[in-house]
Amino acid sequence: MNIIFTGGSGFIGLPIVKKLLDRGHHVRIIDLAKPEISHKNLDFVKKSILEDIHKDITGFDFLFHFAANIGVSFNDSHPLETMEVDLEGSAKVFKTAIKAGIKDMMYASSSEVYGNPRELPIKEDSIKGPVSSYGVAKLGSEIYANSYNQQFGANIKIVRFFNVYGPRQSIKFVVPIFITKALKNEPIPVYGDGSQARCYTYVDDAIDGALDVFDKGEKGGNYNIGNTHPTTVLQLAETIKEITKSSSEITVMGYGPETRLRKREVDYRIPSMEKMRTLGWEAKTRIREGAIKTADWIKKNL
Ligand SMILES: NC(=O)c1ccc[n+]([C@@H]2O[C@H](COP(=O)([O-])OP(=O)(O)OC[C@H]3O[C@@H](n4cnc5c(N)ncnc54)[C@H](O)[C@@H]3O)[C@@H](O)[C@H]2O)c1
Repeated sequence: MNIIFTGGSGFIGLPIVKKLLDRGHHVRIIDLAKPEISHKNLDFVKKSILEDIHKDITGFDFLFHFAANIGVSFNDSHPLETMEVDLEGSAKVFKTAIKAGIKDMMYASSSEVYGNPRELPIKEDSIKGPVSSYGVAKLGSEIYANSYNQQFGANIKIVRFFNVYGPRQSIKFVVPIFITKALKNEPIPVYGDGSQARCYTYVDDAIDGALDVFDKGEKGGNYNIGNTHPTTVLQLAETIKEITKSSSEITVMGYGPETRLRKREVDYRIPSMEKMRTLGWEAKTRIREGAIKTADWIKKNL
């Protein structure tokens, strides 16, 4: 199969690209960043998804749309750019793909579409209420995807990742920030009061989940992909301090404009994995094991 992968140089995208290449597919990455690998069946187009990509994607069979501006601090300080790339960019990618004759796609969405959940665990059809420009952009992109599915018979599958972490993740995110601070014995800053619970999902589990949806997911279906074991931010800091044998202090910073806005915070986020279980997928890696693997990678690459 000939596959287009926007954002294929990224943290989650690249390991999926590698698996697709292992399966014998031809992959073209469209990204602003050059992929860290080369392969005879891989080519790379350095372009923004906001540019004209019609010629670059013509003749391909499947499109993964993973390119996005991500990260709370970037998204909060650049709301317009976030909406431009993460919402208008997605709409443009889907529309261009349909015009180029590609109907089968996968869109990387996020647990942020649910905002503060109205029920736990969060099911795919639970009420959505994003509390950030990023979450709004992700939900808007999903609505575009659904309308292309309905109006043009497209098959855009949606995966909603829940707090993915692991080797190669940018240092802007909580798990690598805590590990890096712990390894340097520097204070570990916990934003908010530390009681916020997340189901941190190890990257290998996330990519296997996405590939299961690619292989077996229902036409135009949407799937939560996440761990089901909640960990508070304080527990995360304590676990990382313990596994790195660090003498760092854990500093609870509270809420505020310099740390995290209270209205922007999601207190609990626990996904239902009922739908993914129907595809035979379940997250295998608990936070302690995943944090050890991530810390090993950071130690070698710091
Ligand atoms: N990491 C997570 O925990 C998580 C959680 C939920 C959803 N997601 C979604 O999964 C996808 C992949 O996330 P990731 O963690 O791999 O992020 P990442 O930042 O590592 O990868 C995103 C890639 O998109 C590229 N990109 C950004 N703007 C672009 C543009 N205008 N044109 C072309 N390429 C552009 C970047 O260069 C990068 O390689 C994103 O859509 C993200 O919203 C990630």
